Amino acid sequence: MTDPKTARPKTARPLRSRAWFDNPDNIDMTALYLERYLNFGLSLEELRSGKPIIGIAQTGSDLSPCNRHHLVLAERIREGIREAGGIVLEFPVHPIQETGKRPTAGLDRNLAYLGLVELLYGYPLDGVVLTTGCDKTTPACLMAAATVNIPAIALSVGPMLNGWFKGQRTGSGTIVWKAREMLAAGEIDHDGFIKLVTSSAPSTGFCNTMGTATTMNTLAEALGMMLPGSAAIPAPYRDRQEVAYQTGKRIVEMVAEDLKPSEILTRDAFLNAIVVNSAIGGSTNAPIHLAAIARHMGVELDITDWQTYGLDVPLLVNLQPAGAYLGEDYYRAGSLPAVVAQLMSRGLIREGALTVNGRTIGDNCRGATIEDEDVIRPIDKPLKEAAGFLVLRGNLFEAAVMKTSVIGEEFRNRYLSNPEDPDAFEGPVVVFDGPEDYHHRIDDPSLGITDETLLVMRGAGPVGYPGAAEVVNMRPPAELIKAGVHALPCLGDGRQSGTSASPSILNASPEAAAGGGLALLRTGDRVRVDLRRGTADMLVDADELERRRKALEEAGGYAYPASQTPWQAMQRATVGQMHTGAILEGAERFQRIAQT
Ligand code: FES
Ligand code: MG
Repeated sequence: MTDPKTARPKTARPLRSRAWFDNPDNIDMTALYLERYLNFGLSLEELRSGKPIIGIAQTGSDLSPCNRHHLVLAERIREGIREAGGIVLEFPVHPIQETGKRPTAGLDRNLAYLGLVELLYGYPLDGVVLTTGCDKTTPACLMAAATVNIPAIALSVGPMLNGWFKGQRTGSGTIVWKAREMLAAGEIDHDGFIKLVTSSAPSTGFCNTMGTATTMNTLAEALGMMLPGSAAIPAPYRDRQEVAYQTGKRIVEMVAEDLKPSEILTRDAFLNAIVVNSAIGGSTNAPIHLAAIARHMGVELDITDWQTYGLDVPLLVNLQPAGAYLGEDYYRAGSLPAVVAQLMSRGLIREGALTVNGRTIGDNCRGATIEDEDVIRPIDKPLKEAAGFLVLRGNLFEAAVMKTSVIGEEFRNRYLSNPEDPDAFEGPVVVFDGPEDYHHRIDDPSLGITDETLLVMRGAGPVGYPGAAEVVNMRPPAELIKAGVHALPCLGDGRQSGTSASPSILNASPEAAAGGGLALLRTGDRVRVDLRRGTADMLVDADELERRRKALEEAGGYAYPASQTPWQAMQRATVGQMHTGAILEGAERFQRIAQT
């Protein structure tokens, strides 16, 4: 086995922090920098030692409980950095907490990105440990590392321990959808609802389901940005402390080797991440975030790559919401290296992609074994064949995705079992303008919602509901749930929580607020979805659509609520659509900015 320390030669490149502290041409400035950093507690000797200065980008705080354990782990990261001969500067990243942030945590990803870019670029840092966890914190950190392009390594905070209720696993996020249905159907009361939901979150860490947090941390490892086997270690486990220490040590070596994100985040790495996302049953937020990271790195990645490279990949990981188990089970079963080894046996992984330990993903994962075949399936016994995302288009939008791995039996029997047309369904729509409208009206009997109805959510994209709300997966009216209809087809220009098991058609781009066809749809119109052809269309004739478009233009376009904060207005003015990453358009022009 190759020794990771000798896998790459050391570089002779001078440390970038020397430009601050070792500057004979401008002794005044050097003195100024030294004076302030000495004030923090470093000695002159340390600052003049020529040791690399390593940042710890701290995403944990009281406002971000999913990542809060990083405050503890940072102590072990520090010890690793010092042990390897580095100097540590820890600093806060704009906190993001998925479920607590109003109006959406999606709004904050680009804000955290902007802030972190300024910190990594503007301070004397030679490398950085990115502390990742809750949904948006991982992409925000990786996007910034891509733009600045100094040596960077990610450390996942890890999932919570498994949740349990009456002997059954309860998964964070996922249980909420079930508990809402039970409450709507009168099976539990409010107290029961709270008990059931809180049982799913028994410890520090991020959501223990295959939601967006587990997905994005797993993909960070699949991209090569995290030490192999580390994304899934549960937050409270001893191994988590150990890998924090190893991560600290490794970043110092990466600085010596000048191993930067641009060598790791290649197109091959992104294609590996797409393949892995299908095999793990990953979140529908992944296409948005991977597109964003790729654009900031300057790597070509198209929304259609998800279907081309990901659709036919089998589902191997049996985690909620697509499956049965939770984070602890997945870690014990072998986590990502075991999954990648299975995918490698079919030639589905680009094995030469480099990772942060200086070795390739192929070398890291070759021979990794599955320790529990019910949690991680061997590739010849998958949970589902072809479990990736379909990319749909039509007169409603240019691109939208559908997670096929969560199409359940009830849904298939009800909507996809017409022998003449097994891959298509159509029906009249009921249109909601934003989540508030939906919550007010869903149980209104005058809407006439039946099991034929398609529910449509619009005004929920990056512009309409700034940052894009996770609201497309809508429960049916309570009366229908009581009658045994647990899911209606849903479609919309918002996102969907990765913890939801709904096969919604979501991330529709362009959104209604950006001139997308969804803005022309009216309650009562019929929509047809054809999964084989990859289309979703409103069955309204062209003349009528033209009339509606003119009327909408005269009315000043699709109306959405006013911005409540300066950042909402600024983000709305610059954000792009979800199929291209919903990044701040123009920011992608700034690439590899720390390189001289
Ligand atoms: Fe933060 Fe799920 S809400 S990880
Ligand atoms: Mg989420």
